[in-house]
Amino acid sequence: MQAALCTRYGAPDTVRIVDLPTPTPQANEVLIRIHASTVASGDWRLRSGTMPRGFGLISRLVFGLRRLRQPILGTEFSGTITATGPGVTRFQPGDAVVGFAGTTMRCHAEYRVMKEDAALALKPANLSDAQAAALCFGGTTALHYLRDKAHVRPGHSVLILGGAGAVGSAAVQIAKHLGAVVSTTSSAANLELLRSLGADHTLDYRTQDFTHDGPRYDVIMDTVGASTFGQTCKALRPGGLYLAIAADLPGMLAGLRQGPQGQRQLTGPAPERPADVAWLVDLAAQGHYLPVIDRSYPLAQIAEAHARVETGHKRGNVVVTMPHTD
Ligand SMILES: NC(=O)c1ccc[n+]([C@@H]2O[C@H](COP(=O)([O-])OP(=O)(O)OC[C@H]3O[C@@H](n4cnc5c(N)ncnc54)[C@H](OP(=O)(O)O)[C@@H]3O)[C@@H](O)[C@H]2O)c1
Repeated sequence: MQAALCTRYGAPDTVRIVDLPTPTPQANEVLIRIHASTVASGDWRLRSGTMPRGFGLISRLVFGLRRLRQPILGTEFSGTITATGPGVTRFQPGDAVVGFAGTTMRCHAEYRVMKEDAALALKPANLSDAQAAALCFGGTTALHYLRDKAHVRPGHSVLILGGAGAVGSAAVQIAKHLGAVVSTTSSAANLELLRSLGADHTLDYRTQDFTHDGPRYDVIMDTVGASTFGQTCKALRPGGLYLAIAADLPGMLAGLRQGPQGQRQLTGPAPERPADVAWLVDLAAQGHYLPVIDRSYPLAQIAEAHARVETGHKRGNVVVTMPHTD
């Protein structure tokens, strides 16, 4: 099978296409022929070794000091089950699936094995392979923060900074589904997209400052590291929550103390749970969550996909398609 290999930290062209043996499913595992995956912001961070300030060393200790311990990146996919190992009961060959491998990665390849009880679900029929491949990375993060950390409920006023990214575009749709009144920021070019995803109010971050004389929010979710807890307290209601999903270490430390009116900061990595993927798949099947696709690249052009992600201005998700889908 073909796979994209990234053995050292570096520029997009450090990723190269190689031939590797196709894996064989063991007990309770399924073999998936991957149709599409994404190059997510996490893949760009790992490939380039670019981490939020203060997290460089710990990331190298976890993912590899001088070279990536797991050289095949890619956290999510859509595909078809082609074989099952002994004991598998949940899936059968021919099932179209979506999956989230998260930090175990290895989705930038034509085939991957997964445990049948991993974050794997039947693909919603209304999504294309590209849309299904982009369901999990942004979606699980947004879901964890909005539903599980902030407990967003109908009538809550939620501001999402960076609504046009992978996490942001999922967050706008999930916050809306949870019943919030949703405001969000992006550059002017993406405001119409955000309205089409259900945002009630949109702000161009280049010309409008949400901390000045605007409404106050119950929840502010910063998906791009565009603000600090200190700045956002001015725009948070008493007791409001600041969700800092892209915080650096100084930002995390600054949020350890409450704000002047009891505002709090929540941060940290989102968990990778099969139940969350099932929740997102249901939402997508009901037509309430549609992953946004920026561009699709064939696997052979994955370096270009990495370069696009590295601009920091992709719209939603960058997809890579496998050779057999060309
Ligand atoms: N805590 C966790 O568990 C977790 C999980 C996933 C991701 N993350 C982190 O979250 C961050 C976002 O991930 P992502 O995949 O959503 O990123 P992404 O898709 O690459 O973000 C790109 C988007 O950011 C927008 N943007 C850039 N600067 C902005 C600004 N100043 N204000 C508002 N929007 C701005 C761009 O919109 P315009 O083009 O309109 O400027 C673009 O659409 C990354 O740092 C990632 O590492 C954390």
